[in-house]
Amino acid sequence: MDPSRGGWMVWTLCASLATQNAALRVSMRESSVEVVRGDSVLLPCSFSTSSSRLSRLNIIWTLARFSSPGSPIQVIVYDHRQVIEDPSFVGRVGFTGLPLSADILLNDSRVSDAGVYRCVVNNLPEAADPGIGELQLSVLEPPSLPDCRWDGDVDVGGSVRLSCSVEEGVPTPDIRWEKVNPEEISLPVNMEGDSTGSVQIVNVSSQTSGLYRCSATNVLGTENCYVSLAVYTAPAGSSGLLQGVLLTLTMSLLLLALLALVLWLRRIGQDGRWRDRKAEEEECYNEIRYTPTLMKRSFV
Ligand SMILES: *[C@@H]1O[C@H](CO)[C@@H](O)[C@H](O)[C@H]1NC(C)=O
Ligand SMILES: *[C@@H]1O[C@H](CO)[C@@H](O)[C@H](O)[C@H]1NC(C)=O
Repeated sequence: MDPSRGGWMVWTLCASLATQNAALRVSMRESSVEVVRGDSVLLPCSFSTSSSRLSRLNIIWTLARFSSPGSPIQVIVYDHRQVIEDPSFVGRVGFTGLPLSADILLNDSRVSDAGVYRCVVNNLPEAADPGIGELQLSVLEPPSLPDCRWDGDVDVGGSVRLSCSVEEGVPTPDIRWEKVNPEEISLPVNMEGDSTGSVQIVNVSSQTSGLYRCSATNVLGTENCYVSLAVYTAPAGSSGLLQGVLLTLTMSLLLLALLALVLWLRRIGQDGRWRDRKAEEEECYNEIRYTPTLMKRSFV
């Protein structure tokens, strides 16, 4: 028997014994991780191995995005001491503890990075039990500025629909509508899908006029947009105004007539004394006649 061949057999035997006794074992230190969009996040994946040889270490991180869970991608791979990244992660992802840990650091996180990550570690011929771990990454995002709109008929008796949609935000922002001016009222919102909330106002009246606010809120913040509604009360309003003006005019005329009557009656009653006072009154007239002259003088 060739001695070198015998040595190889012994090595194989030892390797298979080692495999039976202690296998490579992957453990995830977290089962779910959260990050705010744009921030960095560490995705932990530890493994223990009884082998001192890590030359055939192979690590694969896959991602099943929440948006397409059926088609996972390979985020980053370590194989033959080389690292390969998926194009959508190039420059943003890297191993932090090779070859002793399979942790990766993800920089500049995006909402599309959210999903289920799997860390698969192999170190052939060592058996792996289990050689795989899983964690869920959530990428949170504040709400974007919502878009407020209204449509419908703002004449009295018409109906108006206010709608508000928000494009971004994880978790999905809550949408609320409130009237903020002249008084604060919270309004019932009908959701149309996840990101649009509308309010229907029927039989509008002048009380409908005012400022309305839509707010989109999630754990990271609130953004608002506003709609100002002016209900046109033109036909009813102007005739009311006209009536009011006419009524006031009529009342004033009546009052004037009454006053004239009273004065006339008094004058008749005082007629006897009228002539006696005439002289006195002429003095007054004289005074008035002088006034322009006085004024002229003062201006000179
Ligand atoms: C991620 O950011 C950290 C800290 O800024 C940096 O050390 C690391 O190299 C970055 N990783 C990649 C893949 O750019
Ligand atoms: C509309 O509002 C007016 C005044 O508020 C009320 O008199 C009328 O009955 C309302 N019409 C309907 C259809 O609700």
